[in-house]
Amino acid sequence: MMFTCVLFFIIYCLVGVDGAIEMDNPASVTGSLRKNVTIPCNFKVTPDQPINSANVIWWKDQAYSGPLLYRCGRNADLSGNCTESIGRYSFGGILTERNIALRISNVIHSDVGVYFCRIELEEKENWFTSNGIMLKVKEPRELQRIYIQTTVTGEHWVTCEVSGEPLPTVKWTQPENIKTSQLFFQTGFLASYSLPVSPNTNYTCQIDGENGPEAQSIYNSHQESTHSTCVCQDDMYLAMLGGLGAVLGIVLIVNLFVLAHCCRRAAATNSSENADNIYHNFPRITDLDGIYMNARKTTPTSK
Ligand SMILES: *[C@@H]1O[C@H](CO)[C@@H](O)[C@H](O)[C@H]1NC(C)=O
Ligand SMILES: *[C@@H]1O[C@H](CO)[C@@H](O)[C@H](O)[C@H]1NC(C)=O
Repeated sequence: MMFTCVLFFIIYCLVGVDGAIEMDNPASVTGSLRKNVTIPCNFKVTPDQPINSANVIWWKDQAYSGPLLYRCGRNADLSGNCTESIGRYSFGGILTERNIALRISNVIHSDVGVYFCRIELEEKENWFTSNGIMLKVKEPRELQRIYIQTTVTGEHWVTCEVSGEPLPTVKWTQPENIKTSQLFFQTGFLASYSLPVSPNTNYTCQIDGENGPEAQSIYNSHQESTHSTCVCQDDMYLAMLGGLGAVLGIVLIVNLFVLAHCCRRAAATNSSENADNIYHNFPRITDLDGIYMNARKTTPTSK
């Protein structure tokens, strides 16, 4: 506690002795992708004096040695180039209000980083560089689209597709009696909220967007929500069943043929085995053997 007090006193003394400019800016600001962002930079001159000529400088990553993003000047006769932009960077402040904010248009992921602003007034003791101001970037809250779709079971559903980080809350403002709707799916920063629809009804979903409420409407004119699609579905099922039946039929017939062929072969084999059995059952007396062999040999030739 004591140490902190002493530290503050030293800082106060240093500021008081070193310069007549102070800055009090947020440590971080958050911008939205694809939108514009303004990084604030406000300064205070003591004793206060009118701002005539001035230079404004913005760096990224590091003061002085980091990439110079934007630099502009205003002369005592109010001429100068602070109304001009360099790429996506422009002057977003009002010099007479001690505001030298930087404006970045169409924010991209690589804009994330630490920014430093510097003001240079006429006298050299009125030159001052800020601490780092962190720029964070997020997915903006947006209402992407509203649409009506037919599910595989033939129902019509209205879907409101939204994106953002965090995801915006979806409110159905039309029809009036709907409080909430179920989350249909969510992938990353994109989500769909759906409701089954009633015929001849106007649906409006609304979110709290980056620049105030955003709403989209759709009118459901589908008369009977299931009949026509059901017939279509039935036809499809019948066709599928027919196809399946045909395939099964062919397979069955082929199987029958194969089976029949096997049976016939089996029967043929069986009969020969039977013959063999008869042969084996035949009294195998050595005398008779020769006679039998003869008889057997003669049988085929007697055809
Ligand atoms: C304004 O002029 C200065 C000096 O000529 C130059 O360095 C700077 O880039 C200019 N700024 C803009 C915004 O054109
Ligand atoms: C549906 O609601 C929106 C928003 O209130 C309105 O602009 C639109 O005209 C309505 N459409 C029909 C067909 O009622």
